[in-house]
Amino acid sequence: MNHFEYRNGVLHAEGVPLPRIAAEVGTPVYVYSTATLTRHYRVFADAFAATGLDATVCYAVKANSNQAVIATLAQLGAGADVVSEGELRRALAAGVPRGKIVFSGVGKSAAEMAFAIEAGIAQINVESVAELDQLSRVASGMGAEVPIALRVNPDVDAKTHAKISTGKKENKFGIDIDDAPAIFARARDLPGLAPISIAVHIGSQLTDLAPYRAAFGRVADLARALQADGFDIRHLDLGGGLGIPYDAEDPPPPDAYARMVAETVGDLGLPVMLEPGRMIVGNAGVLLARTLYIKQGREKRFAVLDAAMNDLIRPALYDGHHRIQRVREPEADAEPLAYDVVGPVCESGDTFATGRRIAPLAADDLVVFGSAGAYGAVMASTYNSRLLVPEVLVNGDRYAVVRGRQTYDEMIGQDRLADWLRADAPEPSVTDNQETPRRAAGADG
Ligand code: LLP
Repeated sequence: MNHFEYRNGVLHAEGVPLPRIAAEVGTPVYVYSTATLTRHYRVFADAFAATGLDATVCYAVKANSNQAVIATLAQLGAGADVVSEGELRRALAAGVPRGKIVFSGVGKSAAEMAFAIEAGIAQINVESVAELDQLSRVASGMGAEVPIALRVNPDVDAKTHAKISTGKKENKFGIDIDDAPAIFARARDLPGLAPISIAVHIGSQLTDLAPYRAAFGRVADLARALQADGFDIRHLDLGGGLGIPYDAEDPPPPDAYARMVAETVGDLGLPVMLEPGRMIVGNAGVLLARTLYIKQGREKRFAVLDAAMNDLIRPALYDGHHRIQRVREPEADAEPLAYDVVGPVCESGDTFATGRRIAPLAADDLVVFGSAGAYGAVMASTYNSRLLVPEVLVNGDRYAVVRGRQTYDEMIGQDRLADWLRADAPEPSVTDNQETPRRAAGADG
């Protein structure tokens, strides 16, 4: 359930009419609902509380890393799953307690490791022997002992889009689960490391519990084997990935997911960490855009919007489906028409939907893309030198611009002219011209 609904024929985000945001902030713009964020967090956390498991929800910041979104969740009690120093800084700045932050990811640099150790976060998830050795060097060099999880790859097919599937042997993620005992032993022997946890994450937008059940069962077996071997396993990190309904999908509800977790790992009596991203923020956001033109081609009818693939890349990258809805509620008898919904970017891939049936659109009509709260704004770019899209957070009848629209000066001002391209650059002097070949010759000789 979300809080984007028609009221008196106009789509609202909670108590705020979307045309008001379009008029005051401009389009395209992402709009998030505090009530939906809160509801999704609570439903998820309560589902685990009901199972009696000791569970920490470490929100996967990559799904939506706006400070206001992270702070909303942190104030409800969420921890954070981060995958870069930038995300770690964002989580800390938004008030997530360091003791509830885990650092995942397949390639952490030594500098990122040092930053995380300095910050004193709960756990670093290690994904290879090379990374383990590096972390040991960094931690012992700092005189620290860092709590780590080994992220295992259970070789389970998550049955999701290939680009967001992570738990098969051929994926770059994690350590083959059969190699885990030997690598735990190595971690125990290395200085600076406290191997205390197993982490797993098999993919994203999962709509079936069976792959989870298989993966978590394997993790539970590994935990038992490690405990028998004398390892002090203090908790399990079970990743994220629970899907949401974008279209006709029917993902399992959080309580079924939580019960499955209890059934697969509950008998170990260990606390668990969960890393949901999409499930918390996906349906808590929309991308609000304006129709620029209706273009009637020979064979197709195009709705050309002011939003493009650089603002929301999921359709281009994953064939992602996002519901497209008019902000002015269509008349009950309005006959939908088929549109190719496209943006202004100079690529055919800048297509949000093909042959999508929508109530008739005209130039200037506002539309929203549904379920755009996760992996929307965070994946935006300035491709085609389009300004980074702004973000708005609604709370009841109020809204705040939580990231302003970038300005052209900000965008262009990040570039620097090389000295020799400046209009005011001095002409190379005669001496320079004479010196250069001599120096070059000297260097060669
Ligand atoms: N934990 C780890 C280690 C992850 O790699 C991810 C997502 C999550 C948690 C959160 O997964 P979620 O609950 O949000 O499914 N850009 C893609 C999704 C990439 C997901 C990457 N990892 C998309 O737009 O579908």
